[in-house]
Amino acid sequence: MYTSKISGLGYYVPENIVTNDDLSKLMDTNDEWIQERTGIKERRHIKKGDGNSTSTMGVKAAKIALERSKLTKDDIELIIFATLSPDMYFPGGGVRVQEMMDMKTVPALDVRNQCSGFVYAISVADQFIKTGMYKNVLVIGSENHSGGLDMTTRGRGVSVIFGDGAGAAILTRSEEKGRGVLSTHLHSEGAHAKELSLEGPSTEHWVPEIISENPQENIPYYPYMNGQFVFKNAVVRFSEVINEGLQANNLSAADIDMLIPHQANLRISQFVQRQFKLSDDQVYNNIQKYGNTTAASIPIALTEAWEQGKIKEGDLVVLAAFGSGFTWGSAIIKW
Ligand SMILES: CC(C)(COP(=O)(O)OP(=O)(O)OC[C@H]1O[C@@H](n2cnc3c(N)ncnc32)[C@H](O)[C@@H]1OP(=O)(O)O)[C@@H](O)C(=O)NCCC(=O)NCCS
Repeated sequence: MYTSKISGLGYYVPENIVTNDDLSKLMDTNDEWIQERTGIKERRHIKKGDGNSTSTMGVKAAKIALERSKLTKDDIELIIFATLSPDMYFPGGGVRVQEMMDMKTVPALDVRNQCSGFVYAISVADQFIKTGMYKNVLVIGSENHSGGLDMTTRGRGVSVIFGDGAGAAILTRSEEKGRGVLSTHLHSEGAHAKELSLEGPSTEHWVPEIISENPQENIPYYPYMNGQFVFKNAVVRFSEVINEGLQANNLSAADIDMLIPHQANLRISQFVQRQFKLSDDQVYNNIQKYGNTTAASIPIALTEAWEQGKIKEGDLVVLAAFGSGFTWGSAIIKW
């Protein structure tokens, strides 16, 4: 029986820092409101002309991960690309990575599970490795939120939260028992699809329809979020799915060395931290610097934690995510 271990990690964020004060020049908001409710101080936004896109950022993160794994692009047998903000409506970002990295004609799979995208992608990669089909899989989470946010007061409930960036991991086959990805657990609840969504342009909301039928104040091609409803569901689902993962491996919260929660909101992470009685050293948060980068948030945080020496050989690392769909999931990893 094979397992998969993470053999390389990397991340990339655009250079352009956007502080809460910068946002208050565009919309009626302020640093105090944003920090108190979300913990966010600043985020990164792609600047027009800086050469960044969802796929180019993904490639930058992937190249770092690949170098650290000591593999070459020709060793990669599958690309999995998670994003809610692809460069194009179709095709997805995976094929662009294949081209930009000059890889062989390996399969490129796009995952559309928003904030849970990276955990879903890790789960898919893990299954392909466990069955023996592939040895090395490149997993990317990347988002260009700034290109699609309503940067006026009308959109302030959503726009202050999200940021741009990318993270990547290489999953590699291992035969070491009890190490690597021990389990993944995934869930969805489509009844709440509209509570955190971007409805158009889509086959339900074609552009001509949007323009003719929607007055300026009701534009479905900006993201919508029922913030309080999302918050209440997130804290419950995070806890449930972490417990599910721990129980499946006969582990308890006391066994966790590092929890990397999807960076939805610092208050959500702190709530989960209290639930599992974890110390500040056992939970990694960087939403203060980057905002919520959706599918990129876990790989960026995981990479930073690893770079800072906060994840060591043998540690029990828990990844957990919740987001639009609703979808949620966890991965339990023995490093
Ligand atoms: C979004 C969130 C921070 C909003 O906080 P909240 O306490 O629920 O705030 P509300 O939406 O009730 O809004 C409170 C007031 O602040 C206002 N407001 C909203 N955004 C604002 C902003 N950026 N700046 C200033 N005021 C703002 C609202 O208009 C509202 O004003 P009113 O009372 O006059 O109507 C919070 O609900 C949240 O974090 N939810 C989870 C979001 C999340 O994690 N999403 C990602 C999931 S993957």
